[in-house]
Amino acid sequence: MIVLSVCSLKGGVGKTSVTLGLAAAALRRGIATLVVDLDPQADATSGLDVTARRPHDLAAVLATPKRKVVDGAVAPSGWAGDHPGQLDVLVGSGSSALRDDPEVTGRALQVLSTALRKAPEHDLVLLDCPPSLGALTRSAWACSDAALVVSDAGRFSVAAVDRTLRELAAQDGAARPLGVVVNRYLPRSPEQRFRHDELRELVGELLLPPVPERAAIQQAQGAGVPLHALRGAAARELCATFDDLLGRVLAVSPAGR
Ligand SMILES: Nc1ncnc2c1ncn2[C@@H]1O[C@H](COP(=O)(O)OP(=O)(O)OP(=O)(O)O)[C@@H](O)[C@H]1O
Ligand SMILES: [Mg+2]
Repeated sequence: MIVLSVCSLKGGVGKTSVTLGLAAAALRRGIATLVVDLDPQADATSGLDVTARRPHDLAAVLATPKRKVVDGAVAPSGWAGDHPGQLDVLVGSGSSALRDDPEVTGRALQVLSTALRKAPEHDLVLLDCPPSLGALTRSAWACSDAALVVSDAGRFSVAAVDRTLRELAAQDGAARPLGVVVNRYLPRSPEQRFRHDELRELVGELLLPPVPERAAIQQAQGAGVPLHALRGAAARELCATFDDLLGRVLAVSPAGR
């Protein structure tokens, strides 16, 4: 099992969109995947078309990390149709904001890890993090094999990548960085090219191939379907980008937590 945090300390750069793109690529490849929706906005839960009502959610799991509660918080994604277990979601809710203590340290960060050990077996676990540096993001880092940092090619986001990588390196036992992916990239914009070069200088080989800005991402999210269900050149280009990114994720060696 590989556990990946999809994170950034900057809001709105595309963490959830990248999580959904990876989930779509994993579904296409038949890799049993669990998406854990750590963000109180619960966008991943709605983007993955979860319709089943569950008695529990992520906040309940963090309060009581027992198998019964975890089972009651996992729902099938509507994307997986009649293939139970292929793509599941540990559903998020606004209540998890109460579990995002910015001061948390030590054993409290292991609760998510304990909960995931009780979750049904999957080959890949994707943790969609909130944009804050509190207990939720730190707990994700504590139980992940690798962290994928999402950014866009803007000045403030470059600064946020620097901050994110420093915090990751400073946290004891945190995931190692898999890389930095620039989302919504518009290579025709001189400003974005400049920021992309700046990021390459900052992170070197950690810089991964960018995800282009394409309306197809919003169409797929609006319809509650995986990108791979859309037709057209833009969707195909995005699918190829996420297929490649998934390949890099699957090459991560599990840290054996
Ligand atoms: N490559 C892209 N092309 C076009 N639109 C995109 C792309 N990536 C993301 N978006 C859009 O940008 C918005 C923000 O994306 P998203 O919600 O994935 O960011 P986020 O980092 O998860 O935000 P938050 O910090 O609030 O959790 C969404 O409306 C999404 O549809
Ligand atoms: Mg999000």
